Amino acid sequence: MKHIGIFTSGGDAPGMNACLRAATRKALAMSMQVTGIRYGYAGMLSESMTPLTSLSVSGIIQEGGTILKSSRCLEFKTVEGRKKAVENLARHGIEGLIAIGGNGTAQGALALHVEHSFPIVQCASTIDNDLYGTDFTIGFDTAVNTALQAIDKIRDTASSHERVFFVEVMGRDAGHIALHSALAGGAEAAFLPETKTDLDCLAKKIAAWQSLGKQSLIFIVAEGEEEGGAFVLAKKIKERTGMEYRVCILGHIQRGGMPTARDRVLATRLGAAAVEALVRGARGVLVGDVTGNITLTPLAEAFSRKKALDSSLAAAIEEMAG
Ligand code: F6P
Repeated sequence: MKHIGIFTSGGDAPGMNACLRAATRKALAMSMQVTGIRYGYAGMLSESMTPLTSLSVSGIIQEGGTILKSSRCLEFKTVEGRKKAVENLARHGIEGLIAIGGNGTAQGALALHVEHSFPIVQCASTIDNDLYGTDFTIGFDTAVNTALQAIDKIRDTASSHERVFFVEVMGRDAGHIALHSALAGGAEAAFLPETKTDLDCLAKKIAAWQSLGKQSLIFIVAEGEEEGGAFVLAKKIKERTGMEYRVCILGHIQRGGMPTARDRVLATRLGAAAVEALVRGARGVLVGDVTGNITLTPLAEAFSRKKALDSSLAAAIEEMAG
């Protein structure tokens, strides 16, 4: 393989740039030509492509977002769209692809692999950490730390006013960000899509905490939990307890910011490993890290299998809530 394309797709995640840098430099070191495809799958259709050199990925390891830009592309979800994308890639001499992205990216990559046998390998990158085949995805650690900084600040005001807060975090239909930020932030409970919370039982716990003099409480709500989000959930708990509350939706701030060291290291390892795997003949796989080892997982499995939450962490939140 002499010429590869690299693109970032779907929700941006801190560490995407570090991954792009690693994949580009690894490919250059293996004497390949590298093209950056801008705006993810949309750039394959609009032929928004740019040559990548060692210099073009210089000074970006610490930058959040993605210098290649990203998008969610509806046209690529059609058979005709994908056919056009493959024709455009061929016209530009691109023989293989490195995708950097999450769940939606994996579905597009699998379609290219199955329908066109187009050589493609994906690096696991999404703040949601919802890809099977890797312990952690690029961007997750930074997002958890961003949420944590906000939770710590909310703790100050919650404590000063003896208030109850519901803090909603991202994660789509997975509770990894909520679980980790709740445990690290010392939250009283986490509402997760993967588990059901007995609201009556929680109302009793709240009464018990308050009778012991604990007036400020923080609940972390995963955006995909089943009650319908932080506002709905808070209202349901107020109906049971009568307590006053405030809601804070953290939203897209969780997607931005400088990647943590952990994310930069993971991104660098996965970016380089993806190029090596592609050159060695791997096709239609997700590159991840499982217990410290680089692993390749078929894309179909990576997005369709549900990655389990660490139940010991959920138990620890309850135990530590006092
Ligand atoms: O997949 C990353 C993510 O930030 C999810 O946590 C969230 O549900 C979604 O993307 C938001 O997507 P958008 O930025 O397109 O609204």
